[in-house]
Amino acid sequence: MSIKRSAFVNPLLEQTPSTKTPDPCILVIFGATGDLTARKLLPALYNLAREGQLPPHFACVGFARREKTNEMFRSEMLDAVSKYSRVKPVDKSLWEQFSQCVFYHQSEFDDDSGYESLKKSLAELDRTLGTKGNRVFYLSTAPSYFPVIGEKLSQHKLIYPITDQKWSRVIFEKPFGRDLTSAIELQQHVESYLDESQIYRIDHYLGKETVQNLLALRFSNSIFESLWNKNHIDHVQITFAEEIGIGTRGKLWEEAGMLRDVVQNHIMQLVTLVAMEPPINLKANSIRDEKVKVLESIRPFPHNHFDRFAVRGQYGPGYVDGKEVIGYRQEENVARHSMVETYVALRLFIDNWRWDGVPFYLRAGKRMPKRATQIDIAFKNAPGVLFNTGNNTISNVLAIRVQPNEGMSLKMNCKVPGPDNALQPVKMDFQYGNFFGTTPPEAYERLICDCMAGDSTLFARSDEVLASWRLLTPILEHWHNEHPKDFPNYQSGSWGPEQAQKLIEHDARKWRIL
Ligand code: BG6
Repeated sequence: MSIKRSAFVNPLLEQTPSTKTPDPCILVIFGATGDLTARKLLPALYNLAREGQLPPHFACVGFARREKTNEMFRSEMLDAVSKYSRVKPVDKSLWEQFSQCVFYHQSEFDDDSGYESLKKSLAELDRTLGTKGNRVFYLSTAPSYFPVIGEKLSQHKLIYPITDQKWSRVIFEKPFGRDLTSAIELQQHVESYLDESQIYRIDHYLGKETVQNLLALRFSNSIFESLWNKNHIDHVQITFAEEIGIGTRGKLWEEAGMLRDVVQNHIMQLVTLVAMEPPINLKANSIRDEKVKVLESIRPFPHNHFDRFAVRGQYGPGYVDGKEVIGYRQEENVARHSMVETYVALRLFIDNWRWDGVPFYLRAGKRMPKRATQIDIAFKNAPGVLFNTGNNTISNVLAIRVQPNEGMSLKMNCKVPGPDNALQPVKMDFQYGNFFGTTPPEAYERLICDCMAGDSTLFARSDEVLASWRLLTPILEHWHNEHPKDFPNYQSGSWGPEQAQKLIEHDARKWRIL
């Protein structure tokens, strides 16, 4: 099916500004030698520069513990941008220009003198580059460093009172806390020196176009919204699959695991956007209010029959994309008998009027056969009195592809031409790339830009984060107390452990084949 472009613009969407002007500022990245800076943050800044979306007066300072000169840091970042930028090859003359505003600052995270010298360097950059004293501090370190960095920033007056003309904002990379108790503690800690308006809890899934489109899809198309409930929906599946393993993040991963790294944030954000009620408007707090209600309506996981609700897995060696790969326990900085999960499947219920009795099946795994993040809305089958719609297959599925091939498809039955009443499933398909002629920008581009412009709509509010931890902490505790006896329990390149199949098959349903 082809879809024609229409000139219609939803007036509701116009309430939110489509172009934001970021203020002049300096972005300081803590943990600048880490994986995230190389894979996401610098490529995002480079692309913002390429599209003319950075403020005209801007600088980026990488703060980390390793000794390095500005030149060394710039050259490493050029390698990273060449590898990970969504637009390649890198424009050398643009890079030359852009890299002149990239700097490196070496210090331990708890060293007072490092913050004093940072303060001086930033003031000097303000003078030479006209960045007006405004600051974004991006905490992209292991979460255990957040409290000390925040405290030092505050002690050294790098955080300003909100009454100041110049502003300071802090982006906290997820996960915000590692369970409910630590998240509450972290929240109380940061509240002692930051106003909520200065706190930006990032979940980069919220910056993805396809994720933002969920609201437009649901609330600007009456054909979907009127069917979006327990009367018509059989179940919902959300899949987050990656071919990659944990790479160089062994140390971090051993502290985290899949539930903390992906489910508590990215997957739960998708659940809330699929399940929420229409907000009263598209303002940040109205949307967040509705999302929190969803999280608070999710049925707590029971203590008995736990395996019917939560399954974990860890990848062993195997083959991905025809290449032999090692198991999780063989990865660098991973304990040889590690019990940390690289796969999670959950079955949950949202106990409210809209979703009563509708199961949500969620799965997230590393070293899967392919990379795919997808939401599948499986509708109830039509009564099989006229046509044989099959017992075990769902006739109508709305598949929302978050990535790759961003877009969506609607599966339905069609009569096969000929004398028989035979049915064949067909798909109507929409792809962002084909239709809009461009791939959507990287989520980090949008989010960094929003933070520099003071717009927190696409960042998580504290009660959202706490509600998500409140729900998932009992699983973490259960898993902590009961060591899995069968790890590694899935081969790299497979779709996860056997128990995850059972989790859904027990309800006479199947995971979608992606
Ligand atoms: C990060 C997780 O938040 O998201 C990683 O820490 C994961 O483990 C990544 O690989 C996936 O992001 P994306 O945008 O590639 O889906």
